[in-house]
Amino acid sequence: MKILSVVGARPQFVKLAAIADAAAQRDDVEHIIVHTGQHYDAAMSDVFFADLRIPAPDVNLAVGSGSHGRQTGAMLAGMDEVLEEHRPDWTLVYGDTNSTLAGTLAAVKMHLKVAHLEAGLRSFNRRMPEEHNRVLTDHAADLLLAPTEVAREHLAAEGLAARTVVTGDVMTDVCLRVASAVEGEPLRLPEGIDPAGDYAVATIHRADNTDDPARLRAVVEALQALETPLALFAHPRLVAKAEAAGIALAGGAVHVGAPVAYPDLVNAVQHAAAVVTDSGGLQKEAYLLGTPCSTVRTETEWVETLEDDWNRLVVDPAELPAAVSRPRPTTARPPHYGDGTAALRSIDALRERA
Ligand code: UD1
Repeated sequence: MKILSVVGARPQFVKLAAIADAAAQRDDVEHIIVHTGQHYDAAMSDVFFADLRIPAPDVNLAVGSGSHGRQTGAMLAGMDEVLEEHRPDWTLVYGDTNSTLAGTLAAVKMHLKVAHLEAGLRSFNRRMPEEHNRVLTDHAADLLLAPTEVAREHLAAEGLAARTVVTGDVMTDVCLRVASAVEGEPLRLPEGIDPAGDYAVATIHRADNTDDPARLRAVVEALQALETPLALFAHPRLVAKAEAAGIALAGGAVHVGAPVAYPDLVNAVQHAAAVVTDSGGLQKEAYLLGTPCSTVRTETEWVETLEDDWNRLVVDPAELPAAVSRPRPTTARPPHYGDGTAALRSIDALRERA
């Protein structure tokens, strides 16, 4: 059976690591990897393949950055030839990026079967490009691999129950594996942060936080006013938007670093006192690793993380200092995201329906 994975952005490489590993464990599976080139910086792409031991992509469409329509259109144009050549039994798309939507549309238009990994997540916020990508992908796909029961309920509410299988979350597979592998490794934090002391970790990259200069300034000023030294691993979009708006990211509590490799991120988060982010994946990683998280958004797709205040939505940046210094919850964190075997379940779901 031939599975063709379409990936392009950083969180998809983490999910791909789990899937590539599971595919290699099944003798009857041939796995083709297509990289759209949405993320192309070494720190946003290559290091993930190297650190997570993902086989090199078979195809790289090298589309690069652009407006949503141009970027997605370039991927669509590139995918036809790839699908004609490989004619996979399943095209596997991941998460909610422009690469997800392009892979889906290209395959369904050629009457090739599509499976959507991480199906059924919803923010119900139609301002987010990711929300359109995930809703459109779920409705076009033939098989919906849902990470949680909540995701299954969303799909059922949209009439998609018959195509849904709950597999658990593949990012959890990778996070738990990497967390035990980095045990005892030295922390790689930006200059000026004492790894032996209390520190927090932050990432900010969503359009809603970065693209309006006034909003971005409010977020950055709130981070700089924190009591705890903060390691800000800066996404290229954040750096570009701050520079264009004349906002200095470093200052006060904020120590700026480049985006880090996945094992370094996991290591930094598991020893941190707190996490501040607008990333979906990082909220969940903080939860899995037992670090309280403050999410700079109006809603989250990973609603289970909000239980017992392990994750808190902070809409007004002025409330960040109080949220970040709240005590660590003492309650147990139920295994909402599976037991680390979601990737094998996903591959087997495809094999059963090839
Ligand atoms: C994309 C996803 C988002 C995901 C995020 C993870 C969509 C709609 N969004 O957002 O869901 O959470 O990836 O990071 O697909 N850039 C570089 N080098 C790179 C990549 C990007 O410099 O390797 C810069 C470019 O200026 C680009 C900007 O970052 O225009 C935004 O990149 P893009 O891939 O369009 O979206 P992300 O914000 O990364």
